[in-house]
Amino acid sequence: MRLDVVTIFPEYLEPLRHALLGKAIEQGILTVGVHDLRNWATDVHKSVDDTPYGGGPGMVMKPGVWGPALDDVAAGTAAGRDLTSSLPHVDKPRHDEPADIDRQATRGGDDADLPLLIVPTPAGRPFTQADAQEWSGEDHIVFACGRYEGIDQRVVEDAANRYRVREVSIGDYVLIGGEVAVLVIAEAIVRLIPGVLGNRRSHEEDSFSDGLLEGPSYTKPRHWRGLDVPEVLFSGNHAKVDRWRRDQALLRTRAVRPELLETVELSDVDRKLLEG
Ligand code: ADE
Repeated sequence: MRLDVVTIFPEYLEPLRHALLGKAIEQGILTVGVHDLRNWATDVHKSVDDTPYGGGPGMVMKPGVWGPALDDVAAGTAAGRDLTSSLPHVDKPRHDEPADIDRQATRGGDDADLPLLIVPTPAGRPFTQADAQEWSGEDHIVFACGRYEGIDQRVVEDAANRYRVREVSIGDYVLIGGEVAVLVIAEAIVRLIPGVLGNRRSHEEDSFSDGLLEGPSYTKPRHWRGLDVPEVLFSGNHAKVDRWRRDQALLRTRAVRPELLETVELSDVDRKLLEG
């Protein structure tokens, strides 16, 4: 997969080089290009924003800068540096080492040959785990980071000629710009690319993948500060452990996010637990 990020703060994207994403870069599963939007600014001050038509506070990012930037990135002609991994340990195996790497992208839809353009904005549709799952099969994703009061809306309309465009929000709060949202969205997507997380079960059991929040996890020692690991986890009975985990997930979801239960398929045993 290739990710390109267009931003006025390229250094904000530095975290993409680390940990799991750095490893994916190192393994050749991922390439990441970061592009400074000011490279496409045409005036002496390299300005990228202007006052909003109709008045009001803040500044709006200019179409004359964003348009050519997105044209060049779609065409693969944008100058910019590809991030190198920060990780020096390609030869050091880890517990999450890829077991079987399947780098084939799977895509569907008529215009699937166009790259995907993700525009993070608080005015977008909520980004979900289902999006992350779907987008983990893309070949090329471009992120456009808006700042200030956003990007002139015509940029998004025009980009639809060269991209499949998705405006998404990572939550009901307002950030200063899209960069942190890109880090969130990119991490959620890349960890689902086959081969990036070694253990397939790691994400099959994620919160949200079955519509429920994940229950608690424990490791050694068995007794710690007067607190014990639940007895069932030592039973050696996998069916019993799986049932206990499901119960914990159901109870946590009911306590924290009850609305999620409305769309989850519940068995008779699940229902009995929740009624009891
Ligand atoms: N930019 C500013 N706030 C945002 C949010 N909540 N989600 C995505 N992008 C944003």
